[in-house]
Amino acid sequence: MRKKIIAGNWKMNTVKEEAESLLKSISAQTATSNLSENKIVVVATPFPFIPFCVDTFSGFSHIYSAAQNCSEHEQGAYTGEVSAKMLASLNVQYVILGHSERRQYYNESDALILQKIKQAQSQQLIPIFCCGESLEIREKQQHFDFIKTQLEQCIFQLSEDEIKNLVIAYEPIWAIGTGKTATPEQAQEIHAFIRNELTKKYNETLAQEISILYGGSVNAKNAQELFACDDIDGGLVGGASLKADEFINIINAMS
Ligand code: PGA
Repeated sequence: MRKKIIAGNWKMNTVKEEAESLLKSISAQTATSNLSENKIVVVATPFPFIPFCVDTFSGFSHIYSAAQNCSEHEQGAYTGEVSAKMLASLNVQYVILGHSERRQYYNESDALILQKIKQAQSQQLIPIFCCGESLEIREKQQHFDFIKTQLEQCIFQLSEDEIKNLVIAYEPIWAIGTGKTATPEQAQEIHAFIRNELTKKYNETLAQEISILYGGSVNAKNAQELFACDDIDGGLVGGASLKADEFINIINAMS
């Protein structure tokens, strides 16, 4: 049975006091959220707050710490970079890779993202691989081809055993931080498409095991409708994950 996951992506927000108070509030409130092995919460804080996040979550079940990025290298002279090995040594379990903001502002290519995924997996971190099209591509009706290429050039290079330990997030760029969510029909259509591509490349059993999250202006109001779709296994939540109450309501919207 594939996991349902609500993942918060704080991006470059909060300072120490805010981060600590938000993490305490989220962890305390999830205690009554009906989480289980198959319904989990992941929170990707900025790097400096990760140790506090891991410590805070250690007393709670089914809530995990994530990073928002990692280096493609194992270690060495790469000033300013953070390795998957460092994250693993802090007991981080997940890492977001290939987010559209990394692709856009830091020129991350599918090939580079693949190297990062391999690094993460070599340290037993679970990558949350992001894909999704721009508004321009959607308007030209090229979104299916675009996403297929992102999959083929990146995660479809992985073996069956490797891709099993990975989460996919479909995040249409036009819906990120814009308040413009994809409709449940638009999101479901792409999620079903991705699952079908997984079936064609690997097999049906594997495709049914992989969690595919939706991201892009998810909030407490639209979450339930999105999560009710057959192929949507939760959400990758940006802005709304910075408010404890809103984030908890999103978690509770997942059946
Ligand atoms: P948003 O961001 O929820 O603020 O649109 C989602 C994301 O970028 O992961």
